[in-house]
Amino acid sequence: MLTRTGTTPLAPVSGRPYRPGGTVRLTDVERDMAEGGHGEAVAAAMDLLIRYGDILGAGRLVETGNVCGANIFGPRHSRVYGDADPVALFSEFSLDSATPLDVPPMRAHSCQLIGPYDPANAELQGLDDATLDEITRSERYLASLGVSLLNTCTPYQVGNVPARGEHCAWMESSAVPYINSLLGARTNTEGRESTAAAMVTGRIPYAGLHLTENRYATHLVRVGTPVESTFDWSVFGYFLGRHLRHEIPVIAGVPGGVDPVSLKQFGASANSSGDVEMYHIPGVTAEAVSVEHALNGRPPVAELRFTRRDHEDVVEQLNSTATGDDIQFVMIGCPHASLGQVLEVARLLDGRRVSDSVHLWVYTPSALREVARRNGWVDIIERAGGKVWADTCPAIGQFVPPGTKRFATDSAKQVHYLPAIMGVEGRFGTTEACVRAALTGRWAA
Ligand code: F3S
Repeated sequence: MLTRTGTTPLAPVSGRPYRPGGTVRLTDVERDMAEGGHGEAVAAAMDLLIRYGDILGAGRLVETGNVCGANIFGPRHSRVYGDADPVALFSEFSLDSATPLDVPPMRAHSCQLIGPYDPANAELQGLDDATLDEITRSERYLASLGVSLLNTCTPYQVGNVPARGEHCAWMESSAVPYINSLLGARTNTEGRESTAAAMVTGRIPYAGLHLTENRYATHLVRVGTPVESTFDWSVFGYFLGRHLRHEIPVIAGVPGGVDPVSLKQFGASANSSGDVEMYHIPGVTAEAVSVEHALNGRPPVAELRFTRRDHEDVVEQLNSTATGDDIQFVMIGCPHASLGQVLEVARLLDGRRVSDSVHLWVYTPSALREVARRNGWVDIIERAGGKVWADTCPAIGQFVPPGTKRFATDSAKQVHYLPAIMGVEGRFGTTEACVRAALTGRWAA
């Protein structure tokens, strides 16, 4: 069960900023936390949050009861530190302490995000027993502190659905626009350190998208070509990110409702080509009654129009690394696939066989993989020669099937990152086109 704070009332904070030259003022309780009254780990976390808050120009901290942060055991750490103790790793890399700290149970409800490994596919990833042991120790340590091991970039698909107005501290660029926009929760795009400090203290700087005045739209976007399928929304998101960077758009001209899976893909795309942490779609997202309301009655800074030509340009750009059509790897599930997306792959495969020259891997949260297994969909995918992964993805795990020269995906985010991370070529198209490529070994969108 999640602990939710709703819209946290702001306790009055008076007096000088905590540090000379800083901006952050503290309540009496927070001052006590910062000065060691709640233990060394809480003091280290407060120190980190105050430094961070001062940089952001925050006047105060705000209480949070919902934090989604990084896996301790990243590929970087495993390579450098081998069998280092998770306590030391968490203290150094998450709380900026050179000495191991005695961390108390997490004050905020906390979730671990996606990591670099899927222990269920350990052999494929080449994980040895020592590495598996390290992952297990790391997870046991976090679990002992009360961190939920959701191990996904889409916690909102597996039970962590923040309420409207809830102050959160979430990492993960695809999840941030989803909860800010669709759900109306409030988070900035946090990092490993700030989420760890928020877990320990139940606080985050009250800045950026935590403040109502920063959540209004600045740009008006008109849709001049049908945006209907999940694929269209992925393409549209990538277009927006390219043009807006970090501004907040309100999108006009979207007829009817939009399904959450399309918005999952949309936010991931927009926050790959750009830094779109929030958007408004009147009648769809939580805080937009109308275009005027989303703009807070002000004229837009600028207007954009998404046309058929823009759609084609994005698709062309996202296929631009490919020098040929033979495919060795098909990746579905970035952000982690919904149950409906897993079912779609199973249906497209049913009775067919993945080409011997292709690996078809579908990525989903482990909780959804379990449900998909009970539904028989994992079995259908595996009988066809595919695999269903959890806990990781190729970009985070930095792992593709050996021999991959070119991969295909229905995710704009994955095709944006994977060629740069893994030195492979990418093809981008609909889920159907990707499954077709898995069956034939050829791209024919
Ligand atoms: Fe999730 Fe990995 Fe994509 S973290 S959003 S599946 S790049």
